[in-house]
Amino acid sequence: MNPKKILSKRGQIAHDTVLRVDFDLFFEASGDAYDKDNNPNGKFPLNTAENKQSWPLLKEKIEMLLLEKSIPPWVANYTSCLGDESFRIALAGFLSKFLTKCPINRDHLGVSAGATAIIEMTAWLLADAGDVLVIPTPSYPVYKQDIGNKAKVERYDLVTHHEISDLENKPALRIKHLKKAKKKIEKQGKKFKVLVLTTPDNPTGGIYTKKQLNRIADYCIKNGIHLIVNEIYGLSIIDTTHPAIKEDYPKQRTFTSFAQIMAKKKSPYLHLWYALSKDMGISGFRVGAVYSQNEAFIKAYDNLNAPHLVSNHTQWLLAEILSDHAFMEKYIAHNQQLLTESYALVVKYLKKLNISYVPSRGSLFVWADFSEFLKKPTLKAETRFWELLYEKTGVLLTPGEGFGHSKKGLYRIVFPCFEKADLEVAMQRLKGFLKYYRKEV
Ligand SMILES: Cc1ncc(COP(=O)(O)O)c(C=O)c1O
Repeated sequence: MNPKKILSKRGQIAHDTVLRVDFDLFFEASGDAYDKDNNPNGKFPLNTAENKQSWPLLKEKIEMLLLEKSIPPWVANYTSCLGDESFRIALAGFLSKFLTKCPINRDHLGVSAGATAIIEMTAWLLADAGDVLVIPTPSYPVYKQDIGNKAKVERYDLVTHHEISDLENKPALRIKHLKKAKKKIEKQGKKFKVLVLTTPDNPTGGIYTKKQLNRIADYCIKNGIHLIVNEIYGLSIIDTTHPAIKEDYPKQRTFTSFAQIMAKKKSPYLHLWYALSKDMGISGFRVGAVYSQNEAFIKAYDNLNAPHLVSNHTQWLLAEILSDHAFMEKYIAHNQQLLTESYALVVKYLKKLNISYVPSRGSLFVWADFSEFLKKPTLKAETRFWELLYEKTGVLLTPGEGFGHSKKGLYRIVFPCFEKADLEVAMQRLKGFLKYYRKEV
């Protein structure tokens, strides 16, 4: 008997739908990862968005805390399905001081097991099956599964540019792109229900200006479209004034949180996503949050979130850490310094190799153009080059497939998943291979 056949139809689809095309190689590479002393020929999985550089500082803080503090009684029991109030108070305080720079109301927050659960829940509550969620390309591949697997909401990849040079200083999205997408979607008899922006962006590292966010918000409110801004990389900011990279930034720009625009417009169509996975480098803790001034949305979230709750022990522990603002200030500064140094190292090599990239203002990524190495501008050639690079160097990048972009040969490099000295070994290997391969092509 085929055990798949006795699953539900939904279960059979899940059986056949991989979460990510690069996961098998990721686990293979992680099982044989580079280690200077113990595995110098090991692999470099630079494809998954993990920040491992600041973990030693946070780990020390967590271990101290567990020695000093006794676990409060509520931790062992059920609590609010929006997240325990004590955690939401600590999270609201942390967000308003460090990320949003404006007040955050704890009653407008919902907490779930990572951004993944937040995205799935939000899609379920804001759109019906067959409705369309629009995302400017290139964009986080797994949005497709997060909105599609259960909520059956369709992802629409909105191409706003082709060449990475078109990104100039900021994301290329304009109102004319949204109008065009709306027309196209409606022509197919479907509804443009949600727009998602990520800032700083995955994978380009671009940040939306306040003016862009305001204009896009006005368009969405006028057209009855929910606008969600994902600020999961909001504190992973690159210091663009650093001497090693500042020439890449003719215009300096500071990150503006969408929460400031939400506070002014007070619209039920505007929402914010956040998670601690990236800025705090704790993707394994599974903590995400949605912020919305739409009270009906928050009520519905409360009623449906029980399967996605974050463990109370994690909530308690992180409430202690997030409310220690002196520690968080130190942590964020330390983290941004490490991010900037590793980022500068990667782009130094790309510059030497004459490979163009989008100058990043934040996130854990460099989005780079390797299209000259493809034999043809096709998905097949793109995948083949990605595999070849891995086979020959052990360096695993994130393939362009799934980011939804029109140009082939663009790949994402995740730079803080190894410490800087090790990252340099990966870049040396990449350099050796590309110099050789350039002669071959
Ligand atoms: C833009 C974006 N959203 C959501 C996620 C998922 O985050 P989490 O691990 O908190 O579920 C990621 C992870 O890479 C991401 O890049």
